This record gives sequence, C-alpha cells and structure tokens, in this order.
Amino acid sequence: MERLPSVVELRAASDAVPADAVVAIDGPAGSGKSTTARALARRLQLVYVDTGAMYRALTRAALEAAADPADEAALCRLLDGADLRLRPGDKEAQVVWNGRDVSQAIRTPAVDAAVSAVSAHGEVRRRMVERQREFARRGGVVMEGRDIGSVVFPLATAKLYLDATLSARAERRWRQQRERGQAAEREAVQRDLAERDRLDSGRAESPLAISPDALVIDTSRLSLEQQIEEAALACRINPWLDARVDWDAARAWRALPAKYRLFYNAVAPVGALVGLRVAGRPAPTVPPGVILASNHISWFDPPLVGSTFRRGPVRTLAKRELFAGPIARAFFRWLDAIPIDRRGYDAAAFAAAGAALAAGQNLLLFPEGTRRRIGEPGPIKGGLGILAQETRAPILPIFVRGTRALAFGGNPQSPLEIRYGPLVRLHALDRLLRDHDRREVTERIGALFLGILRELEARSYAATPESEYERRLRLAQGRRDRRRNPFGETG
Ligand code: DC
Repeated sequence: MERLPSVVELRAASDAVPADAVVAIDGPAGSGKSTTARALARRLQLVYVDTGAMYRALTRAALEAAADPADEAALCRLLDGADLRLRPGDKEAQVVWNGRDVSQAIRTPAVDAAVSAVSAHGEVRRRMVERQREFARRGGVVMEGRDIGSVVFPLATAKLYLDATLSARAERRWRQQRERGQAAEREAVQRDLAERDRLDSGRAESPLAISPDALVIDTSRLSLEQQIEEAALACRINPWLDARVDWDAARAWRALPAKYRLFYNAVAPVGALVGLRVAGRPAPTVPPGVILASNHISWFDPPLVGSTFRRGPVRTLAKRELFAGPIARAFFRWLDAIPIDRRGYDAAAFAAAGAALAAGQNLLLFPEGTRRRIGEPGPIKGGLGILAQETRAPILPIFVRGTRALAFGGNPQSPLEIRYGPLVRLHALDRLLRDHDRREVTERIGALFLGILRELEARSYAATPESEYERRLRLAQGRRDRRRNPFGETG
C-alpha cells in the first residue's frame, strides 16, 4: 500500500499541473464546488466550467419555450440548435445562450425547481457530456458538476468530491440568495436542497455519486480559504505519489527470479514481431503491488500484455480449465499462474491473488472474466472490485486493440496497440464503505473501470482512427457472436 503524503509534504510539492489537466469537482448543491472550482482554475491557470449552469441554461430555455421538462425529445431539439457558451465571470460563470446573456436568468426559483427533471434525461445528458468533453479538448479545465469524475472524465488528472452537512449547505445557499436580494426562508431553502439531493442522487442516469478514486473533502467546518487550500493540496496527491515511484529498472531486473527473466526474454520479441505499439506508459514506471487490469478480446492478450511488462514478477489469474493437460499444467504452474474457478466466487484464488499483491508482486487480471467482443467492453465481474477493496492496491488500466488480427511484421490494416492508463488509486474506499455495503462498492469500482476502458478506447481511436478492416471485423464478430451467444461472451 502506498503511503499517503503528509500536509507538509504536499505543501512543498509544486502547484503546477499540465496545461491540459482536467480537474473534476463533484458534490451536492451548496457544498462549495463553484467557489472552489473558480478559485482553483485561477490558481492553476485552467478554464473554469460550471456544468450545472449548462443544465440550468437548457431548463431556462425550456421554460421560456413552454416545453415540458419531462419531454426529452423537445429538450434535445432545443439543445441541438443552441449555441451555448460559458465564460468565466467575476462571481458566477457567465452563460450565453444563442447570443443572449442568461447568467442571472438561470438562477431563479423556477429554474431551481425544474432543473433536476431536465437533467435526469439520458439523451440530454449524453449531449451535455459531449459538449463538456469538447471544452477539455481545447485545453485544461476545472469542471464542476455531479458526474464529472464518474462519467464525463473517468481519467481526470484530479478528482475531488466536496461534501458538507445539509444544514451547512442550506446556510450557505440561504446567505447567497439573500445577497442576490432574493427573499427566502432558511427552512424552505433546506427543504429544497434535500429534495434536489434526493432527485440528483436517486436518478437512474449518472446519479450524483462519489467516484471510488475521488478525494473527498468535507467543507462543513472549513472557511473559504481553507476549502480552496485543501482542494489545491488534494490536486497534488497523485503527482506526489507518482514521483515517489522510483523503481530502478536495472536493479529490479537483476532481482527477478531467473525463470521470469527467461520468460520475459522469450516473449519480449513477440511484440516486435507482430508490430505491437505501446501507448501511454505511465511515467516513470509501475510500482510493485499493482493490479494490472486489461480488457480481453483474444487469446493473445495475456502473452502480449505480458511482453510489454518486464518490471517484476507478474502473477496472473488463469481459468482452471487451462491447467487440465499435464503440459499446460506444468507450464502455468511454472509461471506461478493462479488457477481460478470462474463458475462462482473462488475464495482461494482471490486469497492467493491478494497475498501476491501484498507481497509486492503485480497481478495481471482481465476483469471482464472472459474474452469479449471488440468495441463492447464489459460487463466487469466482481473480482476486480473485491480484490481492490481487500488489498487497497492501485489499479493500472490497460486497453488492448488489434489482438484479433495479428500478422507477422504487423497488420497494415489493423493497428496493434497496448495502451496504458495512469495509475488509479481508490482514495474514497473508506468513505464509500461507510455508507454502502461491499457489493455496492464492488459495482462502483467495476463501473469506474468500465468508464476508464471506454475512455482509453476513445483515445486510441482518436490517435489512430478505426480502419475499414477493423470495422468489418468488429461487425462480423458481433453478428457471429450474437448468434452463438446472445449475452456477449466469446469464449
Ligand atoms: O450545480 P447546480 O446547482 O447549478 O446544478 C443544477 C442542477 O443540474 C442540479 O440539480 C443537478 C444538475 N446537474 C447534473 O445533473 N449534472 C451536472 N454535471 C451538473 C448539474
């Protein structure tokens, strides 16, 4: 388990973030997101984006056009035709809808009352998320909302979740409204907030939820300055941890048991032989005790992923069936693979995997549990979430592409890529386990990982667009597999 930095160490760490950094800030209404996000953006020189203002702007337009907030199609039509711009304002974001400044008009009790209904529609959300991602394509952002860390940017540079007690949040909202000259009763403000919490957290589409890798800050007792300072410190935790990974590759190689060296030396050239490209390797390298979690589309995934990984002993979970024949059994035993019975929850296999991680070994895992169709990752089985909860090990996400179309010298029609994401640390585990049972936390970890896989996939296709050959392979495979097995399992 990594050691979290002390406040002193964090203060000493640099404030600088990359120019394309994405800081995601989520939390309930009145938790201090806007003030914190705006101040952080100024401090880190990033663009501030208030996504609540986007949903509010659509709500205001719907009210003006007398559209029903329950009519998803009408809302989508309004949004599709709209030129929606956000500019950093002095106090609140300036919001411009079709050339008209609506910054004031979106913060009225009528909009407050209807915005939860408008933002509950899946199609509305998908369109908003697309626009939000577009902001980040143009440069670094600090973005606040409800689903920024969980849905919009599963691989955000930093994820913060601001929280505060209901009464502290109501107090703040009440003061804000009085400053704006809106007459309000404190109790009524609190009732409205509680109702909005209920709607925002209870909806089916992207509900307000703590992402397992978010840093949770309770702002109930913090002053404004403290709140901003804490948020700035939280942004430094992952870079601080990354910088501590000083792992001498040459020394690690010498310390490696001879059989691993033999294995790596044998598989390393395989990648070159089939034109494998490795993308997004985390800097500087991977620390011990990490879960390497990859999507799975082909039999060639395990050896190819293994071939990119020469750092230390990598254990892997392999289905028990592979240990059937005497030769295969000897081979997998020699590799220290851990046999797993996939029919149910194999406690012995997970105990062995947990022990390996605790001993500082890395564990290669295919959390989908079996090979899946290209372009349709998931669902994610429980193993990843259970292991992560038990061991607190960070997760290194890996996306493989093209392993179904291998060719010697590389397949010119189908890029072969293994793409590493950054290390994902589950900072919010204790907090989540306080309010939810283990099964629910397992599901959240699975959902996060699936979002990350999709994001890595999108990055891969953005760098190298899908070829015609890949597209045909994907469609043909989909047709064939759907006939054979409607539930998406390919092997
Ligand atoms: O942050 P706010 O109060 O201005 O947000 C207004 C509403 O929009 C809030 O009730 C929930 C919704 N919202 C959302 O569903 N997803 C976001 N990313 C941001 C806001």
